[in-house]
Amino acid sequence: MAIVESSVKVSLTERSYDIVVGAGLLESLGRRLQALGFGGKVGVVTDSTVAKLYGARAVRAIKSAGLDGHLIVVPPGERTKTLRWVTRVLDELVQERFERGSVLVALGGGVIGDLTGFAAAVYLRGIPFIQVPTTLVAQVDSSVGGKTGVNHPLGKNLIGAFYQPKLVLIDIATLNTMPRRQWLGGLAEVIKYGVIADEPFFTYLEQHMDGLLKMEEEAVQHIVTQSCRIKAAIVMEDERESDRRRILNYGHTIGHALESLGKYRTVIHGEAVAIGMVHEAGLSYYLGICKQDLVRRQGDVIRRTGLPVTLPSVSFTDLWTAMQHDKKVAKGRVYSIFPERIGQVRIAPLERADCKRWFLSRRATVVD
Ligand SMILES: NC(=O)c1ccc[n+]([C@@H]2O[C@H](COP(=O)([O-])OP(=O)(O)OC[C@H]3O[C@@H](n4cnc5c(N)ncnc54)[C@H](O)[C@@H]3O)[C@@H](O)[C@H]2O)c1
Ligand SMILES: [Zn+2]
Repeated sequence: MAIVESSVKVSLTERSYDIVVGAGLLESLGRRLQALGFGGKVGVVTDSTVAKLYGARAVRAIKSAGLDGHLIVVPPGERTKTLRWVTRVLDELVQERFERGSVLVALGGGVIGDLTGFAAAVYLRGIPFIQVPTTLVAQVDSSVGGKTGVNHPLGKNLIGAFYQPKLVLIDIATLNTMPRRQWLGGLAEVIKYGVIADEPFFTYLEQHMDGLLKMEEEAVQHIVTQSCRIKAAIVMEDERESDRRRILNYGHTIGHALESLGKYRTVIHGEAVAIGMVHEAGLSYYLGICKQDLVRRQGDVIRRTGLPVTLPSVSFTDLWTAMQHDKKVAKGRVYSIFPERIGQVRIAPLERADCKRWFLSRRATVVD
């Protein structure tokens, strides 16, 4: 059966590239590398979980196109996103005599994409790399936009580079092996795209949520492609995150605060973003920026996924302090992203007093 393929062009002058989406595209990896003009060594960086599932298939696809595929396996998880593991990958590239014409493939989730992209950016002052994301977060978020890097013991993503891939090859069939909870976490970011930038897409999510929850291929293909299109459009406007790109942080002011409050170690990132969106929309309504209908529609969609919506019991002071540590703080003010209507948001400063009044009045205004 022919593979249905959709594509999104990311136009960034000489750094432009395509995002290709379809079920079963992993098999075409070698052919696509060849089409991009690569002929020599290909380093496939992946983690041990993904290696077991897809490593052999990726290397086979590369070899069948006559290229020299070489698997570089690191441990799974956020703890691998460190300079130490970048060094280990670089050691391997040096030992295997990777050259300027060699290419890296990031096969895995966001951790692998961020780590591999950074290694590619610094090895020989930059060798090409391509993204083959295998989690929903990686397919709709981290593989698009060119942010690469690793964590520092004192903070997440403190070390990095803007470095664009030559291609993003998305095989949605790889999502079928993802743990359910991780998959749902990725859906939070997908819902976010609808709320910040695309009303018809949000309506699509409302209408197709049942199919999505069953991971029906057509619906998954549509939401992955459309999410990439939305993120790419925002990135094309503002590659280096000066202003417009910040709308991608919707749901993350409160979301990151909840994550950094540590004691909620039980929520994963996407769950924190879901809670964040529910309450940032509630705050927007409280401040008169949006209508209650937005709060309701967004809340309904999030609830149908089973993602959490309730703010854990936290004091205002703790929450506000944690919100200030988020990167949207400028000159002591918290900049937040307020939805105005589905598909449109506004970036505006949030005053402590306003936030506190909302926080204390929540029981009356927020549906949670
Ligand atoms: N660069 C960016 O713009 C950007 C954006 C968002 C997130 N991120 C980063 O992405 C990371 C989170 O990404 P993530 O959620 O993909 O985490 P991850 O890379 O740790 O993957 C999650 C887990 O799923 C496993 N896995 C991956 N693909 C699988 C598959 N198809 N089937 C079964 N298991 C699979 C992995 O082995 C891992 O254990 C964070 O480090 C975050 O900072 C970066
Ligand atoms: Zn996020």
